[in-house]
Amino acid sequence: MDLPAKLIRSLRNARRIVALTGAGISAESGLATFRDAQTGLWSKFKPEELATVEAFERNPKLIWDWYAWRREQALKAEPNPGHLALAKVETRAPEFLLVTQNVDGLHSRAGSKRIVELHGNLHRFRCFDHDCASSNFDLAQGRCRSCGGNLRPDVVWFGEMLPIDALERANAATEKCDVFFSIGTSSVVYPAADLWRRAKERGAIVIEINKDPTPLTPLADYSFLGKAGEILPQLVQQIWISPNRLSN
Ligand code: OAD
Repeated sequence: MDLPAKLIRSLRNARRIVALTGAGISAESGLATFRDAQTGLWSKFKPEELATVEAFERNPKLIWDWYAWRREQALKAEPNPGHLALAKVETRAPEFLLVTQNVDGLHSRAGSKRIVELHGNLHRFRCFDHDCASSNFDLAQGRCRSCGGNLRPDVVWFGEMLPIDALERANAATEKCDVFFSIGTSSVVYPAADLWRRAKERGAIVIEINKDPTPLTPLADYSFLGKAGEILPQLVQQIWISPNRLSN
């Protein structure tokens, strides 16, 4: 993949880089994206029918079992070269921040440290009704021993507010960044889908890496259509690992 010399120079000189990721970066690890159909037992459900407070209140066990299945899928999955490439960038770019919409935990398993989880993490839990201590959680039953109520995964459900500290951290980094990557996301779910605009208003270079076109594609400074697990390692290799001599 031949990168424009101007892009290579900009990325090599960039200090503040933000990378927003979505379900597409975990697709090559075998995890379905939101816009893909679900598989097996859950194929008759759409995520938006399950990932809501109303669905949980209607049938807490069904939703608890769905997340148990998703946790099992995530634990069986391995970080792919796309996740690993971003962990590598973090070691090269002084102020790199990874902002993910994913709840699968694969970025931290790939070695990324500076991560903002905008939509939470399905390997963490909290009491549905109160703010009980997690030391009293019965994960097998999905019950809180302190209050006897139900447990829920510590993820953002449709219609819920994002964790304010995560969103503020993502916004603050985006408003100062020199380069903004949008990777493996359909760029249609807000407020995450607003981040690239904040970067562009700041004058940052906006780069998209996605398998299919999105609303961002025509507006990005650079758009690479393809698999993140293939494109990211090549890009990181050319820019940060074994930079070949720049052609003038
Ligand atoms: P989507 O399923 O909406 O989009 C995934 C994007 O990844 C699509 O545009 C695909 O083209 C692209 N894609 C698929 N495989 C890829 C690959 N190997 N390499 C690169 N791109 C690939 O998932 P998200 O954009 O993450 O919110 O969805 C955003 C949010 O919508 C989710 O976090 C979730 C959902 O509502 C909540 O759960 C709150």
